[in-house]
Amino acid sequence: MRKPRKLIPINKPILGREELQAATRVLRSGLLTEKTGAGPLTRQFEQEFARFVGAKYAVAVNSGTAALHAAFLALNIGPGTEVIMPSFTFVATAEAAVLAGARPVFVDIDPQTYTLNPDEVRRAITEKTAAIVAVHLYGHPCDMKPILEIAEKNGLAVIEDAAQAHGAAYRGKPVGSLGDVACFSFYASKNMTTACGEGGMVTTNDKELYERLVQIRNHGEQRAYWSVRLGHNYRMSEIAAAVGLEQLRKLPRFIEARRQNARTLTRLLARYSHLVQIPEVKEGCTHAWYVYTVRLRKARWAKQRDKVVDLLRQRAVGAAVYYATPVHRQPFYRRFRPPNPLRETERAARQVLSLPVHPGLSMQQARYVAQELVKALRRVFR
Ligand SMILES: Cc1ncc(COP(=O)(O)O)c(C=O)c1O
Repeated sequence: MRKPRKLIPINKPILGREELQAATRVLRSGLLTEKTGAGPLTRQFEQEFARFVGAKYAVAVNSGTAALHAAFLALNIGPGTEVIMPSFTFVATAEAAVLAGARPVFVDIDPQTYTLNPDEVRRAITEKTAAIVAVHLYGHPCDMKPILEIAEKNGLAVIEDAAQAHGAAYRGKPVGSLGDVACFSFYASKNMTTACGEGGMVTTNDKELYERLVQIRNHGEQRAYWSVRLGHNYRMSEIAAAVGLEQLRKLPRFIEARRQNARTLTRLLARYSHLVQIPEVKEGCTHAWYVYTVRLRKARWAKQRDKVVDLLRQRAVGAAVYYATPVHRQPFYRRFRPPNPLRETERAARQVLSLPVHPGLSMQQARYVAQELVKALRRVFR
């Protein structure tokens, strides 16, 4: 395949006539939002999403960050507590803990899946630890069995950050039903989105947490103008829910297309394992393929990896790096010094790059992406 005229983006929302019609119906109805917290479409979206992840309850909110913040508040995680999490994540994971008043404690990751290393979690527990945030990065689930065991033994809450993992599963159970609460994002680039490109969902099996989350979403109100706890305006609009419902119905097809594209990349890159570490899907895990992340084995410096990304972009492949600067090294977060070295985090930050596998990619384009990666690697690591 020749170089496409337009960049193949790392991700893009796939919206059709169904979403357009659903959004138009809401606009025509005039019921745009509901001051009690959730309109009829939002409630329907919550029910269908809860069913999809196998959780009893779901609370729709207006971003993944709101979902995380509401989860911390509902769990009473606040000043004087510590929350163990990876530094190799999007900043919102840590930001939400800090907004709740807690201290993020950054720990290292597994070099294969880039998710929490349970041994490192164990090492970081203190008498102040209140929770563990398991980030299912890139769509690969965390190793939840040991994480849940550690939590149980130490009386800690487990929050799943499933912002990148709609459709992933661990030992046959969908993510979103494994921890005490799980947080999803419907930001435009995610596996599914809602109108306006922003949205989120919290899922749980715990009725009491659910009731608190419902209040937190709407200013802590128990009933109109009666606030019983600290909350926020985290309400989802009816247009967002209407589009979310359509996207949820398409999600299994989207995930299948992502899986097919990932398979194509894996098949074509397998011969180059001396140059790239291709993503490993651990036994018992179902990957949701938010992105296809490879490690450039020969990259000793981030600059070499960045050169490969530049070459790919020149060839219209929208490669991207998640994350070149781990959270603990970002200016605001330097005050939260990790208790132990984050060697694998630092190594991944220098060596990884992500490639598109979204459902808008044709098989031919997936082949092109693999071919261009090999060409770029040969140029940089000759
Ligand atoms: C791992 C992770 N956590 C949290 C978030 C926050 O989600 P949102 O952008 O919807 O606030 C994102 C999304 O960008 C994410 O990737």
